[in-house]
Amino acid sequence: MSSSPAQRFKNPRARYNFLGRTCSITGVGSYVPAKVLTNADLEKMVDTSDEWITSRTGIKERRIAAENEFTSDLGANAALRAMKMAGVSAEQIDLIIVATITPDMPFPSTACLIQRKIRAKRAAAFDLEAACSGFIYGLEIAQQFIMSRTYDTVLVIGAEKLSSITNWKDRNTCVLFGDGAGAAILQNRPESHGLLTAVMGANGDEADLLFMPGGGSRCPASAKSVDSRMHYLQMNGKETFKYAVQAMQTAAQESLRRCELDISQIQCIIPHQANRRIIDAVADRLGASPDQLFVNLEKYGNTSAASVAIALDEAVRSGRIQRGDLILLMVFGAGLTWGAAVIEW
Ligand code: ACO
Repeated sequence: MSSSPAQRFKNPRARYNFLGRTCSITGVGSYVPAKVLTNADLEKMVDTSDEWITSRTGIKERRIAAENEFTSDLGANAALRAMKMAGVSAEQIDLIIVATITPDMPFPSTACLIQRKIRAKRAAAFDLEAACSGFIYGLEIAQQFIMSRTYDTVLVIGAEKLSSITNWKDRNTCVLFGDGAGAAILQNRPESHGLLTAVMGANGDEADLLFMPGGGSRCPASAKSVDSRMHYLQMNGKETFKYAVQAMQTAAQESLRRCELDISQIQCIIPHQANRRIIDAVADRLGASPDQLFVNLEKYGNTSAASVAIALDEAVRSGRIQRGDLILLMVFGAGLTWGAAVIEW
């Protein structure tokens, strides 16, 4: 029988449990659409091969939402599963934060649309946009509200219908992305340490590496913007790759330093599920062993803000994460943005 993390490590991390207040994840949930798009399917759509996609990314298939299935539907389904695990009713939710780059529409927020769908009538609701880093940004914001005693129960969702902004004629990008949603209920749980720290970062100087030019105030939708394919995601993959490795490494190390933890003390590392080679490179630089990693990108591809949220849910439900385990999340995305979080489960 292993001892609890609090017994194992010198640092009691008392500041994460001040005045009897913590920010714990009490429930997780995820939802992916039924339709599977395999690498073999993509071979029929663009000049690519299963061999190229698998060796360059690790992705074998991804999920694609139905035409009448939107980001709010994916997010609401994930939320209901997280609420069930936490034993939380819709009326108990104080705040809904939805991280997404593919909202149902520019406004109202997808958070408001999900509030309506799950009937969380008391909840305040807003979207946040930090691309693939959005879920960790959401966790940190939720923690601030909970620790300040503003709210007791916060629902954080990462949800994306990336297929709606994917250029299915561009083999450089269309093989990478998928649709899905993950959610977490955060609450004060005095008998736990919960979220120990969250690191967030951004570098707008590199905004041009990964972006969607059309649909905003700079380039509103027009016949010309549609003809010029401006409503699709565009990416400089090679440069993004380099930044991803560096940024996730730095964020992860900073989060561990703040908690006075060594990477060897982490039971489960959940990286942003963008590319197996990025994950392996970061793990190598951190000195992590492969069996510490949780990877599911072969099934879903890169689901942006939903990525680590879906993986966290799968890791918990499969028993890979046990109560008391230390978990490291690390993410990277457009903006550029990045983040890392350490959680005592
Ligand atoms: N099938 C076959 N060939 C392809 C494909 C494809 N799907 N895509 C590109 N190629 C070709 C290229 O055209 C190029 O050919 P060329 O040498 O004749 O010009 C060749 O393969 C090599 O291309 P590279 O770009 O050098 O391939 P690389 O090894 O860098 O892998 C990849 C590309 C997978 C995109 C990688 O750079 C990557 O993963 N980058 C990071 C992307 C990412 O993680 N984004 C995260 C943030 S997402 C968000 O925030 C929403």
